[in-house]
Amino acid sequence: MNTDQEIATTTGSLYASIWDQFNQSQWEKFSDDHFFNWSKLPVDNTFFADKVCLDAGSGSGRAVRSMLIHGAAKVCAIDMGSGCVRNTKERNSSFSDRLEVQLASVLDIPYPDNTFDIVHCDGVLHHTTDPKRGFRELVRVLKPGGSIILGLYGRGGLMNFAIYAARLFRHIIPQALTLALVKRVSSDPVFWYAVMDCMYVPIRENYYEADILQWLREASLVNIQRLDSNWGAYGMGRWMKGEGYIKFLAEKAR
Ligand SMILES: C[S@@+](CC[C@H](N)C(=O)[O-])C[C@H]1O[C@@H](n2cnc3c(N)ncnc32)[C@H](O)[C@@H]1O
Repeated sequence: MNTDQEIATTTGSLYASIWDQFNQSQWEKFSDDHFFNWSKLPVDNTFFADKVCLDAGSGSGRAVRSMLIHGAAKVCAIDMGSGCVRNTKERNSSFSDRLEVQLASVLDIPYPDNTFDIVHCDGVLHHTTDPKRGFRELVRVLKPGGSIILGLYGRGGLMNFAIYAARLFRHIIPQALTLALVKRVSSDPVFWYAVMDCMYVPIRENYYEADILQWLREASLVNIQRLDSNWGAYGMGRWMKGEGYIKFLAEKAR
């Protein structure tokens, strides 16, 4: 039986191998798209200004960069992949005076209660052995009155069906072969990321919007808003995207 640590480390190594494929300008575009293009945050450019932020499961550090560019006083980033920690640090080295990056798990966040003005955790909990525990950890370290941005895979739709069919082959087709094939199909590393992520990540949980709303309400979060994702712009109806990508902005009650 794999331990929590082994699963998190394997997951972190997979993602680090993906982030390493992005050159700096491709990565900067990936970062610029994060908050203000892909799933638009319904806030203005001052949202991050002077805030102390946590990025839990920072990956390549793309959200970290966006928060720092938009004036965050400090960003603390954690990830369970040592290559992800390296990517987050190196790609954001010009902001090192406002950045702290640690190898740590979202299931055991190494910060005291009520530390952060903003907690961001996008695309992470559904890859862990105990997503609900991770969620409680995120709320624990958020200050009363602070904001949480949480993104999780939605359930249903033809796309999830296709992803689960592809995952049946992940123990047969080597990762390196799939990567070589996707590189022949497209020169866009975001496409490579989407394929490798969906197919090879060890745990891939999916949720109904109602499940996540229940988590948020049980934690007494307020001002809950579901964020739009632009998947509709690709002609994806509900039959294709199911619940879509489930991303919420909410606040911890004072
Ligand atoms: C899909 S990526 C998302 C990265 C980033 N949030 C973004 O939006 O670009 C998932 C990230 O979660 C990290 N991760 C997985 N399990 C984790 C855990 N238990 N604690 C912290 N990070 C974890 C992985 O290493 C990976 O970098």
